[in-house]
Amino acid sequence: MKYADMTVRELEEVLRTEKARYAEYKSMGLNYDMTRGKPSLEQLALSDKMMNAEYFNGGRTYSGTDCRNYGGLEGIPEIRELFASIFGVPPSQVIAGGNSSLNIMYDLVSAFMLLGTGKGALPWTAQTDRLLSGEISFICPVPGYDRHFAITERLGIKMINVDISEDGPDMDRIEKLVKSDAGIKGMWSVPKYSNPTGVVYSDEVIERLARMKCAADDFRIFWDDAYSVHMLEGEPAKQKNLINACAEAGNPDRAYVFASTSKMTYPGAGVAAVASSASNIEWLKHIYTIQTIGPNKINQLVHANFLKDYDNLIIHMKKHADIMRPKFQCVADVLKEELGDSGVLSWSEPKGGYFISADTVYGCASQVVAMSRECGVLFTKAGSTYPYGKDPENKNIRIAPSLPPVEELRTAIHVFAVCVKICSAEILLAKKQK
Ligand SMILES: Cc1ncc(COP(=O)(O)O)c(C=O)c1O
Repeated sequence: MKYADMTVRELEEVLRTEKARYAEYKSMGLNYDMTRGKPSLEQLALSDKMMNAEYFNGGRTYSGTDCRNYGGLEGIPEIRELFASIFGVPPSQVIAGGNSSLNIMYDLVSAFMLLGTGKGALPWTAQTDRLLSGEISFICPVPGYDRHFAITERLGIKMINVDISEDGPDMDRIEKLVKSDAGIKGMWSVPKYSNPTGVVYSDEVIERLARMKCAADDFRIFWDDAYSVHMLEGEPAKQKNLINACAEAGNPDRAYVFASTSKMTYPGAGVAAVASSASNIEWLKHIYTIQTIGPNKINQLVHANFLKDYDNLIIHMKKHADIMRPKFQCVADVLKEELGDSGVLSWSEPKGGYFISADTVYGCASQVVAMSRECGVLFTKAGSTYPYGKDPENKNIRIAPSLPPVEELRTAIHVFAVCVKICSAEILLAKKQK
């Protein structure tokens, strides 16, 4: 029965029952961490063979380069080829670096602030007095990835929320915003199996992003393809290539695409890469050449030898999917069983990625997260899926089901559901008793 249709007495009954369940869970001394999208031990073990000597190959690439020594700013050819097959661009348009794509994104935004987006371009920070609002800003599809928002917040870039729906962000709004404000210099995006909604941007959205008229000619899209091959079943979703779409639309330098092997092999020791137009890659090399003599090529080498090529990578990712699928299914089953017809929670059922996005209908996300925490079940802080940690409706909670084993996950989601029921019933009861 829908909570909204319940009488005061029925709501009080719900509260009595659910509070008793909550007390029981609390007495169990649970300690489950679902704050971040961390691969489980079983997933990490899929890549343990990567450390075998056969993949090290004496530290030499197939062309004989000695990876133990300095050099190779753009990464070794083997790993650039592998990333190129993921990005759908030539290897010459890829730079492979250290373990973290987030690190590349942070560096890039900082470099654009201080040095500009290319040869002869004014640094973003040097443009503020020419801009109508005097502010540099970024479009932020919401709910989104907290660490993206943290980068722009830390660097003093204003963030503009744009809602995301099943096809991707609201393009009418984005087109309108970027057309008139030259201070809007960039946009964050997780285009496939998005964090946290699981949304896959449609080809139409991608074409519009490539085509749209921007008041700022140094507007850049930060296309974080972190989950490009992270399907839960079958093959990865097909998606239009943004870099090519931008080139076709006459905006060849608009997009930077990022990915890493963090959730293919080890998040603690993966390889990250960035792809873009040929001229942007030249600009990146110009920036990197002062930052470093070269990346960790040994790690790139063992990754390239272990993952081999795109087809082999997909075989490897299917093993991840086999581990992840029952976890996503478990969350979906428990939420349906507990809250299916209650009308107090809506949630995503993604086909890939690492997250399930849940919206509390009566705006009680922070209360639910706090109550769950008291019971030993940890979720990412409420609000963190929005810029500045401020969810205007206090509704969104990100569920990261990857880390706990299925049985622990089941209990954790029951606890979560109990908290959602209690918080929602209390809000409705207070409204009815007013
Ligand atoms: C969308 C997204 N981008 C990037 C990252 C982190 O990537 P990396 O480990 O390559 O820094 C994550 C991790 O959860 C993520 O969800």
